[in-house]
Amino acid sequence: MVEVRPLGMFDSGIGGLTVLDAISRRVPRESIVYFGDTARLPYGTKSKETVTRFSQEIVRFLMTKNPKLIVVACNTASAYSLPVIRSMVDIPVVGVVEPGAEAALRVTRNNKIGVIGTRATIQSGAYLEAVQSRKPEAKVFSKACPLFVPLIEEGWVDHPVTLEVAQHYLEHLAACEVDALILGCTHYPLLKGVLEQVVRPGVVLVDSAEETAREVKEVLSGKGMLASSLIGPQAELYVSDMHLNLRLQIERFLGFAVPRIKVVNSEFEEVELQGI
Ligand code: DGL
Repeated sequence: MVEVRPLGMFDSGIGGLTVLDAISRRVPRESIVYFGDTARLPYGTKSKETVTRFSQEIVRFLMTKNPKLIVVACNTASAYSLPVIRSMVDIPVVGVVEPGAEAALRVTRNNKIGVIGTRATIQSGAYLEAVQSRKPEAKVFSKACPLFVPLIEEGWVDHPVTLEVAQHYLEHLAACEVDALILGCTHYPLLKGVLEQVVRPGVVLVDSAEETAREVKEVLSGKGMLASSLIGPQAELYVSDMHLNLRLQIERFLGFAVPRIKVVNSEFEEVELQGI
């Protein structure tokens, strides 16, 4: 029997489902094990040491599923912890920062690139480094947008308050005349509608979910590891807490209901927890 090795993915919560969605459209034959650290999010307000420790624990858990590739579907974990994660495993690890930076460089015409993300992602300077190591003359203008994640989690993706918050955050980037804006947080693709109303005409919104999916396909096909037929389950979803509203939020991110969500405790052992 052919062994089915899944793709392992994780995020601080369910924002990474935007990446899962993009990957499962681009490589629909792959099975995916997704872990959302819903008990410990947000990561975007935490220190590098803590985010790295959490990421290491999750990668150890994912490795028990014998994945063929790991996707760090969280900008904060990618920005802070990618080298450490890569040093832990002998399979390819794809983060979301490098694909986002490359996509922005492909679309910018004036080499002025905006980046929005959590405080941690912006403070890490990871996008600046990823862009300028590829094209030193490119300029990067960043803005932390800490209120976006809670607004999205609340479902206020097209609320007037969110529009006002976005106008406030993006004012400075507009003045810098960026012509590409990297959505440097896996939650942000849900805000595309609002962001399109706020950016100047012609500014391209760069969705790192789509770019990461493209990179995953490239790595898998480059290594001859693309699944040839769909044998296993398409997606297995684990979370570290099943809190109020989680099902609703997951449906919002994926656009459909997931029949079974598995919950693990702080030791990463599966537990029965139905949520409230
Ligand atoms: N999904 C996380 C990211 O892409 C943001 C949410 C958080 O702060 O944990 O950075």
